Amino acid sequence: MMTRQLIYSGKAKDIFATEDENVIIAQYKDQATAFNGVKKEQIAGKGQLNNQISSFIFEKLNSAGVATHFIEKISETEQLNKKVRIIPLEVVLRNVTAGSFSKRFGLAEGIELEQPIVEFYYKNDDLDDPFINDEHVTFLKLANEKEIAFLKEETRRINGLLSAWFDQIGLKLIDFKLEFGFDQEGKIILADEFSPDNCRLWDAKGNHMDKDVFRRSLGELTDVYEVVWEKLQLLN
Ligand code: TMP
Ligand code: ASP
Repeated sequence: MMTRQLIYSGKAKDIFATEDENVIIAQYKDQATAFNGVKKEQIAGKGQLNNQISSFIFEKLNSAGVATHFIEKISETEQLNKKVRIIPLEVVLRNVTAGSFSKRFGLAEGIELEQPIVEFYYKNDDLDDPFINDEHVTFLKLANEKEIAFLKEETRRINGLLSAWFDQIGLKLIDFKLEFGFDQEGKIILADEFSPDNCRLWDAKGNHMDKDVFRRSLGELTDVYEVVWEKLQLLN
C-alpha cells in the first residue's frame, strides 16, 4: 500500500510521498487560478483533463528523448513522477507576442517572433514571480551558467517538438511555461506539467484554446480543454 503523506500543496496539484523516496504522486485538482491566485474557481473535471493531457505530452516527450520526471499515469487525476528538487524558475518560451510580453513592450498580440524568445521568471508567489535575467539567476544561485545554457537549449528543443505536434492538429503554440528540477543524480530534467494551463494555443480562427478563456472570462474552460484533448488523441 502506498502511503499518502502530503508533501506539497500547490494551486493546481497536490504532491504526495510514496514508499519509494525517489517517487512522488502528483494529484491534479479541480481548481483554476489566475493572477497569482487572485481569481480562483473550482471547475469539475479540470484535474482529470490536465492529468490526461500532461501525461500524454510527457509520454511523447520521453519517447522523443527528452529527460522528464514523468513515470506513468495511475488514475484519472494522478500520475507517478520522479522526485526532483524543483528549480524555482518559470522558463517561458514565446513564438508569438501575447500576454505579459505584449503588455511589457506595448505590442499587439499575434505578432510572430523571428526567433523564439526564452525568458526567466523567479518562481516566488510572495514576490509575484518577477521577470529576471540570467545574471539574476546566477546571483540567486538558482542555476549556474552551464545550467542556464542547458535550460534555454532544452526549452528550445522542446518547443520544436511541441510546436510540430500542435501544428499537426491545427493548433498554434503561441507560448508556454516549463519548470525543471534536479533528479537524484543531480541531472536537470523537465518537471511540473504541460497542459493548456501553462501554454497558449490558438486555433486557425484565432480562438483561445487555453487558460486565457478563464483568465479573460471568454467561455467554459473544460469545453476548450476537452477539444484540445480530443485533437491530441489524433496524434497517436
Ligand atoms: P504571460 O504572457 O502571462 O507571461 O504568460 C506566458 C506563458 O506562461 C503563458 O503560456 C502562460 C504561462 N504562465 C504560467 O504557466 N504560469 C504563470 O503563472 C504565468 C503568469 C504564465
Ligand atoms: N499560475 C498563476 C496563478 O495560478 C497565474 C496564471 O496562470 O495566469 O495564479
